[in-house]
Amino acid sequence: MCGIVGYTGGRQAAPVVLDGLAKLEYRGYDSAGVAVSDGDGNIDIKKAKGKLKILFDLTDGGKSFNGTCGIGHTRWATHGEPSQNNAHPHCNDEHTIVAVHNGIIENYSQLKDKLTRRGYTFYSDTDTEVATKLVDYYYKKHGEPLKAISEFALHARGSYALAVLFKDFPGEIFAIRKDSPMVIGVTDGGALLASDVPAILKYTRNVYYTDNHEIVLLSKDGVAFYNLDREEISKTPTLISWDAEAAEKGGWEHFMLKEIHEQPEVVRNTVNYFLHDGKLDLSELQLSEDYLKGVSSITITGCGSAYHVGVVGQYVIEDIARIPVRVEIASEFRYRKPVLGGNELVIVISQSGETADSLAALREMKQQGVKTLAIVNVLGSSIAREADGVFYTKAGPEISVATTKAYSAQLIAMYLIALKLAEVRGTVGAQQYSSFKRELTELPEKIAKVLETKSEVQKFASQMMDKKDVFFIGRGVDYAVSIESSLKLKEISYVHSEAYAAGELKHGTISLIENGTLVFGTLTQKALAEKTVSNLVETASRGAYVAVLASQSVEGIPENFKKVFHIPDTDEHFTASLAVVVMQLFAYYLSVLRGNDVDKPRNLAKSVTVE
Ligand code: F6R
Repeated sequence: MCGIVGYTGGRQAAPVVLDGLAKLEYRGYDSAGVAVSDGDGNIDIKKAKGKLKILFDLTDGGKSFNGTCGIGHTRWATHGEPSQNNAHPHCNDEHTIVAVHNGIIENYSQLKDKLTRRGYTFYSDTDTEVATKLVDYYYKKHGEPLKAISEFALHARGSYALAVLFKDFPGEIFAIRKDSPMVIGVTDGGALLASDVPAILKYTRNVYYTDNHEIVLLSKDGVAFYNLDREEISKTPTLISWDAEAAEKGGWEHFMLKEIHEQPEVVRNTVNYFLHDGKLDLSELQLSEDYLKGVSSITITGCGSAYHVGVVGQYVIEDIARIPVRVEIASEFRYRKPVLGGNELVIVISQSGETADSLAALREMKQQGVKTLAIVNVLGSSIAREADGVFYTKAGPEISVATTKAYSAQLIAMYLIALKLAEVRGTVGAQQYSSFKRELTELPEKIAKVLETKSEVQKFASQMMDKKDVFFIGRGVDYAVSIESSLKLKEISYVHSEAYAAGELKHGTISLIENGTLVFGTLTQKALAEKTVSNLVETASRGAYVAVLASQSVEGIPENFKKVFHIPDTDEHFTASLAVVVMQLFAYYLSVLRGNDVDKPRNLAKSVTVE
């Protein structure tokens, strides 16, 4: 995830901006840049690929960079490779308008075409250069920065936190955001903006949280807020009482809770990056449409939660693209001698891109001459480097050992790959295809809705404190959700649990059900719900305490089930994205209540680089 920082006031700006960027390093980045305007408004830009230290060294910690108004950026590549050229800030040809941006402009190629027709030239591959030149276009048209920014917001689709310097307005920063975070701080004789509170905490504890489509004007006199009609609006600052460590967690008690709450943003970023202007563009994966058309079978492999994503992928790809799919645990797959089909595609899923077994499975497959695709979160990791094609999820760095947001981003990767395969092979009709795309773009809002139920989940967790054994059951995608739910619960709460395909329980394991055993059923697949309900009834009649997690419109849930959680309806292929959030929260709260170290559970490491 990119990070932005801005400062204007009485101090030299660059050291403040660089210091703020350093506090955002946890968001991950591959290049960085700073722009500072001097008293006359001349704007100087310095940027570099790689670590912030390069920029620190280049500018003597910012000291050699004159001026009291500046903006800076750490870039996590989205459009275009990591390079100095693609690094922010970007500017217009005259160097009179300079901007940094966090987010993704979905209709950037349309806007780029339009601006090109009006005589603009582009020198980078980024959507940010397009954003900057769009502001420039409207500034030249209206001669007014607020108007230029509001026109930008009316024409740009997607997510953005955008900060702009205008040569004509020295000492002022104009900013706006939509669906990307931006906080504003006021100091004595100055003002700051940033993607997150830690970047400005050293200078102020008075912070304004901006809402979508609010324009902010920062100057040494303070801040002013405007709506898109350029009418001034009043806002109340929040006093931040966290210490620096808590601030890194954005005020959340644990990284895991923070990352659970980042899921709407992460899902939005991953969907919007690949699905824009109504088109699903996976060209970055280096697998041509002709190749995808000819794929005869797919094997998905990974470890732990990444493997569980593969299980969802198996249901979704087989159902909508009609290609045979198998899912293999990487530590098994690497030592098997699998019979591989003629035109088989192997997909390796890994958040870290460094998991030893997944990497070994990838190498083994490559040696056998099979085409490989990696779904990876960490840029430039070993699996990403060695696979034939890479799908980078846009989850940003995941700190908590138990994965949440990376898992959610991997699910999106599975859906988008399934959709592309269906598109090139013509296995879904146009109407169904549009409906899939619409449902995907609505997922972030629905995940946010599920997050609103967290106090209900917390209360339920407090009632389940004494449970020694938990069973998660479901069919189809609900089975895939169950295995992830069970792993989450085990790894952070240390409560024993098992996941079963609902129909399999009666073949032996049902003998473990005793009075009060918690059996948690997931019911999001309407055609299968009745069957799973029957299996749950079987456990209830043996004394189980039955809880269910059901899509809103699923009917026929018996009244004697002890607890029912509802999630919004979505296309049944995508329900894992909503259901898992309740299960993550359940595991989280149970872990907190039991006094465990949520972010660093015992015996576990974030990246498992041993066999
Ligand atoms: C569970 C979890 C692990 C990882 C697994 C694979 O919460 O985080 O099960 O999913 O170790 O890790 P990556 O995705 O880095 O290959």
